[in-house]
Amino acid sequence: MKKFVLWTLYAVIAIVGGGFLFLLMKGPAKAAPGNIKVEATAERLQRGKYLFEHLADCAGCHSPRNVEKFGMMIVPEGVGSGFEFPKEIGLPGTVIAPNLTPDPETGLGKWTDGEKIRAIREGVSRDGRALFPLMPYQAFSRMSDEDVYSVVAYMNSLPPVKRPLARTELDFPVNLMIKFAPQPVSASVGPPDRTNRLKYGEYLVTIGGCIGCHSKEEKGTVVPGSEYGGGREFNVSTYLVRSANISPDEETGIGKWSEDRFISKFRGYSNVTYENASRTNQSNFTLMPWAPFSQLTDDDLRAIYAYLRTVKPVQNSVDVHPPAPQPQT
Ligand code: HEC
Ligand code: HEC
Repeated sequence: MKKFVLWTLYAVIAIVGGGFLFLLMKGPAKAAPGNIKVEATAERLQRGKYLFEHLADCAGCHSPRNVEKFGMMIVPEGVGSGFEFPKEIGLPGTVIAPNLTPDPETGLGKWTDGEKIRAIREGVSRDGRALFPLMPYQAFSRMSDEDVYSVVAYMNSLPPVKRPLARTELDFPVNLMIKFAPQPVSASVGPPDRTNRLKYGEYLVTIGGCIGCHSKEEKGTVVPGSEYGGGREFNVSTYLVRSANISPDEETGIGKWSEDRFISKFRGYSNVTYENASRTNQSNFTLMPWAPFSQLTDDDLRAIYAYLRTVKPVQNSVDVHPPAPQPQT
């Protein structure tokens, strides 16, 4: 009997240990990068800028930012040169959005365009490692081929910035769990149908990442039922903001907003620049990309508005600018 118990124990240890080893060695699901050289046409450079600096706000995560300027403005000479996420926002480890400029040593200068496309839509770095899904590749997997080519063409045109940064170091067990996140995009992704306003709005909202910031979050995933209902907290330095409820609930969301009011809200920030941005204080602190989004086209803002009216209303009253938290020690 004793022997039997012992053997069972050994077996369990072997299975658990083996599973663990397997996870340690396992790479993410991945396909070879596409063999493609993106041609930088004038249309692509223009569309790429629109996506990189505005709609997809790649620049917002991949550039140094100044927390003391309204909206944590991007430091203009560092656009695309990477960003180390502040510790206090509660990420599981050190998370660094790498330098995307074409510098060969510290940026993507040595990457092929296929490798860049794979990282953006499939979440696999050049060396085959799974990217932490704060990089929104799950949403970007829906980015059309033409849009991702445009982003790559634009990234390739950025002035190279030499800026060495450390690498992302995730805590256990997140470092193992994220290996399941990447998924190859095997078929070509057609352009969004602009004549179908709701579908087009959904595409924009997906690429714009609204849901991630405007829903409650637990362990990196959206809490079901909280979609677009706001209330997610963001703490940077000594400032704290909560995302607004942008679901169509009439009392606590934007259900009573007209399309005009929605568009004017964004346009209200269209003259904010790094130079003239007001100083951050607890009552204006925000991570909402107002300055980047203020440049979205009327057509895009209308489609976003139309789509947001169709999501489930969430009743959740949010105090967006609560009193400041105690300074971090
Ligand atoms: C919400 C923040 C966020 C946004 C928005 C974002 N990224 Fe990232 N990105 C990251 C982080 C964080 C990483 C690093 C993840 C890691 O190291 O595991 C990353 C990694 C990458 C990588 C891989 C680089 C490498 O060296 O492995 C590429 C390429 C990239 N992003 C491009 C883009 C592009 C292009 C966009 C816009 C279309 C974009 N990112 C938008 C946060 C973001
Ligand atoms: C990086 C996080 C982040 C992203 C991405 C984001 N938001 Fe926000 N948003 C916020 C925060 C925080 C607030 C509350 C503070 C403020 O109003 O500036 C906010 C406020 C708003 C408001 C104002 C609502 C009100 O009641 O005043 C609207 C409208 C809005 N967001 C729409 C959007 C849309 C549409 C998208 C996607 C295209 C989006 N947001 C993406 C963080 C984000």
